[in-house]
Amino acid sequence: MIIQPRTRGFICLTAHPDGAHQSIKNQIEYVKSKGKIKNGPKKVLVIGASTGFGLSSRITAAFGSDAATVGVFFEKPASEGKMGTAGWYNTAAFEKEAHEAGLYAKSINGDAFSDEVKKETIELIKKDLGQVDLVVYSLASPRRTHPKTGVAYASVLKPIGQPFTNKTVDFHTGVVSDITINPVENDEDISNTVAVMGGEDWKFWIEDLKAAGVLAEGVQTVAYSYIGPELTFPIYRNGTIGQAKNDLEATVTVLNDLLKDLNGKSYVSVNKALVTQSSSAIPVVPLYISLLYKVMKAKGTHEGTIEQIQRLFAERLYTENGNVELDSAGRIRIDDWEMAEDVQAEVAKLWEQTSTENLSEISDIEGYRKEFFNLFGFQFDEIDYEKDANENVQVPSIE
Ligand code: NAI
Ligand code: NA
Repeated sequence: MIIQPRTRGFICLTAHPDGAHQSIKNQIEYVKSKGKIKNGPKKVLVIGASTGFGLSSRITAAFGSDAATVGVFFEKPASEGKMGTAGWYNTAAFEKEAHEAGLYAKSINGDAFSDEVKKETIELIKKDLGQVDLVVYSLASPRRTHPKTGVAYASVLKPIGQPFTNKTVDFHTGVVSDITINPVENDEDISNTVAVMGGEDWKFWIEDLKAAGVLAEGVQTVAYSYIGPELTFPIYRNGTIGQAKNDLEATVTVLNDLLKDLNGKSYVSVNKALVTQSSSAIPVVPLYISLLYKVMKAKGTHEGTIEQIQRLFAERLYTENGNVELDSAGRIRIDDWEMAEDVQAEVAKLWEQTSTENLSEISDIEGYRKEFFNLFGFQFDEIDYEKDANENVQVPSIE
């Protein structure tokens, strides 16, 4: 079957298994090129392991530190005549590469918010690894069914207080326009978003893992957050999603208490704005990312998810003296290069000037688009997209 991209807005309905494999290979090559991470993790659970930052975390642990990895995600498998999702193909390729390198890698496909998937994961760790020494929490989801109450929550991306008007871009057409997003009408929009993207599920995971005795002495756990520039504050950090991130960040204290007797530590890492399936859904943010990429590429400080996570592991979580550098609010900052004053000043200046007419000149909209298609296995030079793709690609560890 010949597979071409088919998009609907910020969603790509198709995915290319061979392109996904290429993307995995590229990430592995990068991690290897940086050398082994000293004192890195050895047995790692990644929740949200199939795309974006979670996938890069799994690759960094495996190929940067020879770690055994268990990955949890929610993807659609390839079946007779039907395509799988990008995260499915990513995982199929990752496991293949990991197994060939002699590394343990098994995966669980299901709803990470559920008690069942937590149980299944714990059973797998008990059977194969005994314990894990790192838990990466990298879920991004628009909804969550609460495992104790059965209530289904849907998150919203809205400002709080007043309407927010700013520029946004349709990254397919390159049309820049003004968008006005109305604020939440009630507190429920906020609490629903916190229920989906806040820290409760992370806490449930760590509680269950601890109770089952599968967390090693000195275990670390990390979840990912975002701050970004003032121009996106109304829709991001001061909006509904920002409230969820505040809740996630506040969970660190709770988890540190929980992990104290294991000498364990919990962290939130504030990461850079990057093209992922999740971030492309947020208004205004893709235009900011296009300008940010332009500025950071020119300065030679641009990073993708794999560069970010490799640096997070090598220079923050697993330093030689064991010290983890934190900001005044207790967070790891791997968004330091994004937030550098000169970078932000240049982006802010470009932001004022941006229009449909000058977009391709002053922004890296091309790079944005390419990375978006790369997420689904498209636009890799190494792949001949006129040829039949490998169909029915399976994840080796999932029957
Ligand atoms: P992503 O969409 O690429 O990855 C989400 C992962 O969660 C996938 O593996 C998916 O299968 C999994 N998932 C979603 N719902 C699930 C469920 N019910 N059960 C099991 N797995 C499920 O997203 P991305 O961007 O990598 O986000 C990960 C974290 O990083 C999020 O907390 C996000 O807020 C944060 N972050 C993202 C930034 C960005 O610019 N993309 C910047 C800074 C932080
Ligand atoms: Na992820």
